[in-house]
Amino acid sequence: MRLSHVLPVAALLGAVALCAMPHAAFAQEPGGLVAQNWSFEGPFGTINRAAAQRGFQVYKEVCSNCHSMQYGYFRDLSGIGLTAPQIKAIAASVSVSGLDESGQPKDRPALASDHFRSPFPNAIAAGAAMGGAVPPDLSSIILARAGGPDYVYAVLTGYTPPPAGVTVASGTYYNRAFPGHQIHMPQPLHNQQVTYADGKPATIDQEAHDVVTFLAYMAQPEREVRERLGIKVVLFLVLMTGITYAVKRRVWADISH
Ligand code: HEC
Repeated sequence: MRLSHVLPVAALLGAVALCAMPHAAFAQEPGGLVAQNWSFEGPFGTINRAAAQRGFQVYKEVCSNCHSMQYGYFRDLSGIGLTAPQIKAIAASVSVSGLDESGQPKDRPALASDHFRSPFPNAIAAGAAMGGAVPPDLSSIILARAGGPDYVYAVLTGYTPPPAGVTVASGTYYNRAFPGHQIHMPQPLHNQQVTYADGKPATIDQEAHDVVTFLAYMAQPEREVRERLGIKVVLFLVLMTGITYAVKRRVWADISH
């Protein structure tokens, strides 16, 4: 086979291989984590909207009591399928600090363009309330921890009584997945911790799965748009390679022999 025949095939195979590559941030799996089935993984992955909406409910009713999500905006909720009036109503139910007509500090209802509100005024206050451990910001926790969604899921579902002979320090709880197994976060999820609007049974497993889906979305709200564009670009390049090759053959047809 001549090189000129091999090249387009190689380009096509390369493009396909690129598409099939798993998402780099989620690829590493430290030992012991059980890989869960996430709708959003892989280049063609999409956020399961229903799961993410339930996950937002879990975040709002449970996690947001302790954790900030400082890079989250109410308007980001459009990406999990909430409508503009729904987002406006959710934002309006939260009050944030603003100014009155004379420029004096005065609380006001939040707008879609506002950040999610932090439960504590600052990290020192958070640490003081939590026995010294500051609850980490959840904006990009899925990307910040090795194991990503599988790790966060494992922490949320990893509370067990300590094995015989193990005692945990006061103010900490035994957790299988957390490094060192002693975590300052009390078990946040229980069966029926929330009541889902869509009637889905709220088991610990379901709640953890849903909130992780929501956190994965919030870590990269623009990811699906970006990946869809990437796929279009690759398809375009493959097409252009074919056209260029066909044109080259035409142009050289009379000259090459
Ligand atoms: C009562 C307060 C509280 C609630 C409610 C809470 N957390 Fe936490 N969380 C903490 C604290 C405190 C830490 C720090 C733990 C430590 O470093 O020992 C923490 C740590 C974490 C960590 C980091 C573990 C690590 O590897 O460092 C994750 C992930 C997490 N929380 C997720 C959640 C999610 C998701 C929810 C909601 C389902 C939630 N938390 C609810 C207090 C809370």
